[in-house]
Order: sequence, then structure tokens, then C-alpha cells
Amino acid sequence: MFQGPFSESIIKRAQEKGVLRIGIHNIRAYTTDKHHVCDDTPYGGGGGMIMKPEPIFRAVETVLVRPPGWVLPEEDAYHNLPPWDPEKPPPLPSDVPIILLTPQGRLFTQAVAEELSQYRRIALICGRYEGVDERVRTRLATDEISIGDYVLSGGELPAMVIVDAVTRLLPGVLGYELSAHQDSHSPGMDGLPEGPQYTRPAVFRGEAVPAILRSGHHGKVARWRREQALLRTLERRPDLLEKARLTEEDLRFLAEHGWKPSRSG
Ligand code: ADE
Repeated sequence: MFQGPFSESIIKRAQEKGVLRIGIHNIRAYTTDKHHVCDDTPYGGGGGMIMKPEPIFRAVETVLVRPPGWVLPEEDAYHNLPPWDPEKPPPLPSDVPIILLTPQGRLFTQAVAEELSQYRRIALICGRYEGVDERVRTRLATDEISIGDYVLSGGELPAMVIVDAVTRLLPGVLGYELSAHQDSHSPGMDGLPEGPQYTRPAVFRGEAVPAILRSGHHGKVARWRREQALLRTLERRPDLLEKARLTEEDLRFLAEHGWKPSRSG
């Protein structure tokens, strides 16, 4: 599932530049029974299957005591695994968050992406089937993240979303570091969605590019973009204005367009 998204575009280039290393680990490879069983029926009955704890613990506790980028050699899967004692957990690096992807986790936002981009290494556990044994959550994971209030069939797509959003924030990936994080002058970069953007042709199907963008007046262009971003946000996502970094000028403009902050400060 990961091969496509991870071998294109920004994520591909980040890996080529040596800024990012991704290790993909098949939890099933960490089973030792004949049929490589990763799930089992729930205690107490009910439908669905639950992912067993041992293969997940074994995978995480094998991978995280090894250097980033290490992957189990394919020929060692199932039958020649490094030794692991279910009763003797190895000390795991305390500075590597172990994140379980689950719809019950805290909501993934740009702020969480920024937070994760500060770590040297992160571990993402993709649950599948109808659920994961609770002890993975309580005894292994250090964080739980949801990418939105909808239920996907597994944590793989959420993991890809997180890798993408975090990779863009790593220094050297986009080639314009400052603006990816905090440049308060670029629309879209401080909690506001972008305003309208245009490229050639100047007129398409009778609709012309706003004259201001063609005026060559950088100051006016910047202000216009900012105001368009503010207007669009006011119209579609007024909730975002509450948390956006707004200047006095922004606040005046928004007030003129009927915005009333729901709380002051
Ligand atoms: N697994 C299934 N749905 C999910 C979601 N929305 N976010 C994270 N992990 C999930």
C-alpha cells in the first residue's frame, strides 16, 4: 500500500536527499505460528476480529531497538526473527513517540504535524480489522492520532497522510523553509486557507485574472492576497479565524466585513 505514495514527488525527493528515511514493517512477519495469524476473536463475544498484541509488540520492540531505516530481511520473516521475550520488554528510546493510528485518537492538525516534525524518529502503528488489543494502547503506544472523524479500514492511509504532512515541514525538503512554518506574510501559512490563485492565460473563458495581480505592485498584491484569504476563511471556515495569527490590519478588515470574534483575546 505504501509504495506508490512514498515513491513519488516530495516524499521521494526527501528520501533521495537523505532528509527522510522510512522503514515499512509487516506486522505479520513477526508472527511465528504456521498460518501467520495476526488477529483473533474478541473476549466477551461480539462481531469482528481484534489484532493480537504479540506480533505488534514484537515488531515495535524489534524495530525500535535498531537504527532508523532497519528492516527485517525478507528471508528472516516468520522463522528467523531476532530473539524476543514477551515477558521482558527491552527499553525503548524515550524520545521516539509510538503512535497508534485510530479514529479514537487526538485529531491530526497542522500543529500536530509541526510537533511531530521536531522528532528525529517516530513510529506509526497501523491497526487493521475492527480493532487492536487494548494493551497495545495502554502498554506500547505513547500517543494515539486520528486523521479525522470518519472510519477507514486501517491505519495505513492515515500513516501516509501523517508522513506527507510531516515531511513537508522537514528542513531542506521544500526549499523554502521559512514559509513552510511561520512566515506570517504568506497566506495559507499561518492557519488560514489560501485565497484565489491564478496562472496564465490572463483571460480564460471570458474570466480575467484580477488586475491587481498583474499590476506588479508587490505591496498591494500581498495585501490583496491576505484580504482574499481572510474573506474566504470568514465565508467558509470562520472557526479558523479564532486561532489564526491576525494583525491589527487584519482585524480591522474582518470587522468591516462583519466578523465578530466569539471571544476576545
Ligand atoms: N483508522 C481507521 N480510521 C482512522 C482514522 N480516521 N484516523 C486514524 N486511524 C484510523
